[in-house]
Amino acid sequence: MAFTRSRATHTVLVASNRGPVSYTLDETGALTAKRGGGGLVSGLSSIGPDAGALWVCSALGNGDREAVRRGVGEEGVRMLDIDAGTHADAYNGIANSALWFVHHMLYQTPLEPVFDAEFRRQWAAYETYNHAFAEALAEEAADGADVLVQDYHLTLVPRMLRELRPDLRIGHFSHTPWAPPDYFRLLPDDIAAKLLDGILGADRAAFLTQRWADAFTDCCRAVLGPDHLSSSNTRIGVHGLGADADFLRERSHRPDVDERMAVLREQIGTAPDGGARRTIVRVDRTELSKNIVRGLLAYQELLADRPEWHERVVHVAFAYPSRQDLAVYRDYTAEVQRVADEINSRYGTAGWTPVVLHVKDDFARSLAAYRLADVALVNPIRDGMNLVAKEVPVVSDDGCVLVLSREAGAYEELGEDAIVVNPYDVSGTAEALHSALTVPVGERAERTKRLAAAATALPPAQWFLDQLHALRSAGRSAGSV
Ligand code: G6P
Repeated sequence: MAFTRSRATHTVLVASNRGPVSYTLDETGALTAKRGGGGLVSGLSSIGPDAGALWVCSALGNGDREAVRRGVGEEGVRMLDIDAGTHADAYNGIANSALWFVHHMLYQTPLEPVFDAEFRRQWAAYETYNHAFAEALAEEAADGADVLVQDYHLTLVPRMLRELRPDLRIGHFSHTPWAPPDYFRLLPDDIAAKLLDGILGADRAAFLTQRWADAFTDCCRAVLGPDHLSSSNTRIGVHGLGADADFLRERSHRPDVDERMAVLREQIGTAPDGGARRTIVRVDRTELSKNIVRGLLAYQELLADRPEWHERVVHVAFAYPSRQDLAVYRDYTAEVQRVADEINSRYGTAGWTPVVLHVKDDFARSLAAYRLADVALVNPIRDGMNLVAKEVPVVSDDGCVLVLSREAGAYEELGEDAIVVNPYDVSGTAEALHSALTVPVGERAERTKRLAAAATALPPAQWFLDQLHALRSAGRSAGSV
């Protein structure tokens, strides 16, 4: 065996590429830790290291790698210092390019996709990287422990881990959409089969919505054969992660959020009649699947078609840089800026900036925008869930109308009380923005209340515990739960 079990003491393990803590290294050589948020963090902390929980993740930047070298770390977290080149190929080449693009259906023919020798080289790195996780988990897990493997970075881990440790209960959770078979089969056949078989090494494969779970089972039938899934022992589950109402309500009323609201109000300005301008808010990573440019074009069409909104509305767009190692993301970031500038130069006046674009990540300012929003625009091409759609109704001060893509996972739970758009339909989105801006105050408040209730039905800690309980009661028998 390539691993030792001397540390095999942990009873609940989570594995993900990005962990709950990251380190930065300053010029003096000092390391500073920064803790992240999110569903897994609150879920796992409800169990805690004392109860045998361990989070296995990658060292991502220089700070993380230095922390591993110096043996600095938090209890309950093990960072894997996988060779930087191997990690870059696995993360940027396979996970964030091939797999992310397949599941979000982002390829643009005729130039993409190209699965060539370079892709095969990156694929070998992806296997090595997944294997490093499987070995670490095999080393750390106590007999019969529960292991929850996260996302498209670690698709191969369940099968690899099952081979090393048949005694473990293994779950896999996909935070992304899952591609339908015709699109998934863009991938080379052998790789498509390995990805599906990797997940089928788990006792339970879970997804954010029924739609993504069905797409996965459809892919299994199309790629592995009609009977493969029913003869495997993997159960399929759905857990629709919700917003953390308690945290959001408390956090959004701290003084730093109030300060940012004052600054934003200043930037938004007042309408010619002296009243407050309306706001259309969006908050995203600058991510191709988020469809920020089409959102801006829809806003531009609104201004072109309905001059009555000139000077009376502002599009507050926060687009935080993401995955800047990839050229296509850098280009997209520049395109967002270019289109925003173009709208401002075409329509702006001395006292009115039609698009207020911010690109520096600032959580307090995001919450301030949520509180001020009259309309929230969430128009992704495809999205596993989209938590912004769930967070805005919880935080909104005066009620907010949600314009929501039917391709976001959140649509399954929120579609009834949102104004729903086809994300490619720019004119339809412009029309939806107009409708949203004109929803009467009373109806807007009612919708927001219902949206907030649906959005918080499964808070993060409960979402995590539900998965764990379902895994524990899954056993290894076929079917759906
Ligand atoms: C989004 C997706 C997750 C994914 C994460 C990775 O939040 O919903 O499925 O794990 O991005 O982002 P990163 O910045 O780590 O590449």
